[in-house]
Amino acid sequence: MKRVYLTDYEQEILEGKHGEGTRMAMEIVIKMGELYGADRLIPVKRAHIDAAAYTTIWDAGTEFIVYLADHGAKCAVLTTINPLSRDIKNWKELGASEKFALKSKRLEDAYLKMGVIPTWTCAPYQSTNAPHFKEVVSWSESNAVNYVNSVLGARAERLPDMVDVCCAVTGRVPAYGRYLDENRKGDVLFRLEGFDDTWFQDSVDFAVLGYYIGEIVVNKVPVIEGLPERTMPDDFKALSAAAASGGAVALFHAVGLTPEAPTIEAAFQGTSDYEIRIVTPADMEAMEKRLNTATSDKVDMVLMGCPHLSANEIAEVAGLMKGKKVCDGTQFWIMTCETQYNLAVRSGAAQILEEAGVVITKDTCLMEMDEGDRRWEGQNFVTNSGKAAQYTPAINRVKIHMASTAGCVKAAVSGRFSGEVRR
Ligand code: F3S
Repeated sequence: MKRVYLTDYEQEILEGKHGEGTRMAMEIVIKMGELYGADRLIPVKRAHIDAAAYTTIWDAGTEFIVYLADHGAKCAVLTTINPLSRDIKNWKELGASEKFALKSKRLEDAYLKMGVIPTWTCAPYQSTNAPHFKEVVSWSESNAVNYVNSVLGARAERLPDMVDVCCAVTGRVPAYGRYLDENRKGDVLFRLEGFDDTWFQDSVDFAVLGYYIGEIVVNKVPVIEGLPERTMPDDFKALSAAAASGGAVALFHAVGLTPEAPTIEAAFQGTSDYEIRIVTPADMEAMEKRLNTATSDKVDMVLMGCPHLSANEIAEVAGLMKGKKVCDGTQFWIMTCETQYNLAVRSGAAQILEEAGVVITKDTCLMEMDEGDRRWEGQNFVTNSGKAAQYTPAINRVKIHMASTAGCVKAAVSGRFSGEVRR
């Protein structure tokens, strides 16, 4: 196994001169580096931790985090963190048991002791933690890794849960994978053909495209040619999340839109031995059909905010919900973080939605809230998210209809799915 070169400071940490928690974290980062053939560690200035939800790491993971915190481990760099298994203020109203809430709280307290910025969001790049071009970061949460790598041009890898915590504590990541320029070259060109202006007006199209591409490339680097110039950060968020869950994409390039792809040549780093795939509206429609697993038009839940909605997206939903009510027998949940929620309160969007019967959850994610009670099992969900379309059937045992933002609102108001994904 290749040996990881350590600086004097890193060696000191490994020898325990900076405390037991930090020593243990460094030992794990080095082991991870050895496994991936890294020859050195790279210092970082910021981190984002995925392993926040109790239902992601359960009791064994919690014990590990508590051990680190109790043995002096502190985040060495600016560190944000993913959603929890509970909404901190409204967990009771949202159906969590006291026992479950306390398990989550124990984990939250350990992270706070370590000095995380308690963002509890999976879209930190839209709140307080947006790395700059070429900045090396310690990152996890698959959508966030894909977003900062691709859209911001930072250097990130899909660090495993718990290793992400160790990297934040040591301020180091192993030099491997997408941290290295040579591993950032495109592998497959996806050329969009035959799409008129009605396409890519709503983030659901970006989600479907992301899922379609992710399934094909798995963990290779796709290069997308033909996305419209008007593509917005929220659209890229939907694409990043879907590509990272339909496959395991950690980096994509969009020609003319993302920083490492001003041209096709740049995206492929001057090479020409890449595969070309044509994507047509028929491919997208076939993908939509596959993601739609619900067989009845009845809607039990409309779920938006996977990844967490921005204040901009919340305002869009509020504009569509104004003067309407969520149908009896249907729930409409929007998932976001406290920061974006506060902006939505200031703009008045949150009040419009809450008066209409929409539940806005903060700090959490429906997929992390199931404490084994299978409360959604057998229900029909409508969502605009490719990642939710992948996760909720597996985790929550529900069926899915994909819909645009307007389609989600219509489904919530009528309690029925219209059968149209893009309207
Ligand atoms: Fe975020 Fe949960 Fe989706 S963490 S990306 S809302 S699965």
